[in-house]
Amino acid sequence: MSVTLNKDVDENRQGEAIEMEGKKPTGKKLYLESYGCAMNFSDSEVVASILIDKGFTTTKDQTDADVVLINTCSIRENAEQRIRNRLSQFNKAKKQRPGMVIGILGCMAERLKKDLLEEEKLVDLVVGPDAYRDLPGLIEEVDGGQKAVNVLLSRDETYADINPVRLDKNGVTGFVSITRGCDNMCSFCVVPFTRGRERSRDPHTIVRECADLFEAGYREVTLLGQNVDSYRWNMTSKGEIKDPEKPTTNFAQLMEMVAEVNPKLRIRFSTSHPKDMTDDVLHAVAKHKNICNYIHLPVQSGNTDMLKRMNRGYSREWYMNRIDAIKRIIPECGISTDIISGFCGETEEEHQDTLSMMREVEYDSAYMYKYSERPKTLAERKFEDDVPEEIKQKRLEEVITLQHEHSLKINKAQIGKVEEVLVERVSPRSEEQMLGRTDRNHKVIFDREDSKIGDYVMVEITDCSKASLRGVIV
Ligand code: 5AD
Ligand code: SF4
Repeated sequence: MSVTLNKDVDENRQGEAIEMEGKKPTGKKLYLESYGCAMNFSDSEVVASILIDKGFTTTKDQTDADVVLINTCSIRENAEQRIRNRLSQFNKAKKQRPGMVIGILGCMAERLKKDLLEEEKLVDLVVGPDAYRDLPGLIEEVDGGQKAVNVLLSRDETYADINPVRLDKNGVTGFVSITRGCDNMCSFCVVPFTRGRERSRDPHTIVRECADLFEAGYREVTLLGQNVDSYRWNMTSKGEIKDPEKPTTNFAQLMEMVAEVNPKLRIRFSTSHPKDMTDDVLHAVAKHKNICNYIHLPVQSGNTDMLKRMNRGYSREWYMNRIDAIKRIIPECGISTDIISGFCGETEEEHQDTLSMMREVEYDSAYMYKYSERPKTLAERKFEDDVPEEIKQKRLEEVITLQHEHSLKINKAQIGKVEEVLVERVSPRSEEQMLGRTDRNHKVIFDREDSKIGDYVMVEITDCSKASLRGVIV
């Protein structure tokens, strides 16, 4: 299998297949392909765990599979289109192997439900993000000749007790989900509809999973949630205590618990939300050497009226206050963001505000998108998708060009520094070179010498491009 798990997972990546050994083989072979965000890749690990436990083995060869599952993303229209094309290819393979079960999982499953099953006849099985425990039974139903569907969303499913099999190939960096769903209702976003209400996972199961990962040789975990700052255990969304006999846990406290698993285990987290990120979180990052100095803080737009239309819950000034707090409390913190160009009603002035915001912050990196209208969202119901395609494209290009300038400038400022780098893998370009990341999440390529995957090495930064740093072990 071939999944590398870190934050360069984004919705544009191609689907990737996995291969794992089953525990008590039933002879059934599973082919599982994932698209979309880090959360989807993490969910695929839960799915693989559930099916391997039932005796499935996995295969990298889709034509050799009894069950083909595709874990899908709905965030933008082009993500869905790519997956539909893939489903058509699977259906061609099915002609050669008529017993093959084709199923879709994840956000598109929840969004399209019966369309894919009944009208388009592209799949036999449709399973939403909260129904993976039902997969073995649903696959049996399909084997019995029926179509099967479960897209019910849950208020409490967190898969807390399932120890995900690890699908990353390096065995050093892993994802651990801490919340599921989202209650934020950003007006452009389909996630609250496809993934349901937000719920947090028992902190002790999170700490145990991180400790197990460390024992297995992992040296970095990324704590995952749509909005990690709203993580809360034993508290209602209004902050009231549920069970007074038991302790409560917020995100800052959870991070401190995980940081204490082992000083050699690096902690990252994603995604932070500007409206909820507290100074306590920043102080926890500053206090623990093993919590990485890197924050992904999506801004979406630099204009307050636009942010209101996006229903983001903060103004430009509030966001800048959070950036100032990061820079004050965690000097040398890497900051990245998400930006949407061409959202409903975006004026040239509003677009210029996004560019000026970028100049003020100077992000290390950014994920930049053209707005794509999604069914059911607040924006679809309330606003017109009225920015012409050429203007969306032109503004996106301006945003990307400016970001590239900033990435290069920040990377150049790293030259001459000596950084602790966690060695993650052999460089795809050369067997003689290794690839790792600094605390601040900069990718570094360096000559291997006698370093191994999973080692921490001190690297002097000697050169860079806008995408990565180069260095030598010192
Ligand atoms: N169109 C374009 N980008 C979107 N995102 C979310 N929904 C949309 C949409 N409808 C982007 C946001 C979010 C990231 C995960 O995807 O920037 O932070
Ligand atoms: Fe979507 Fe907003 Fe929730 Fe992120 S915080 S998943 S953008 S609704």
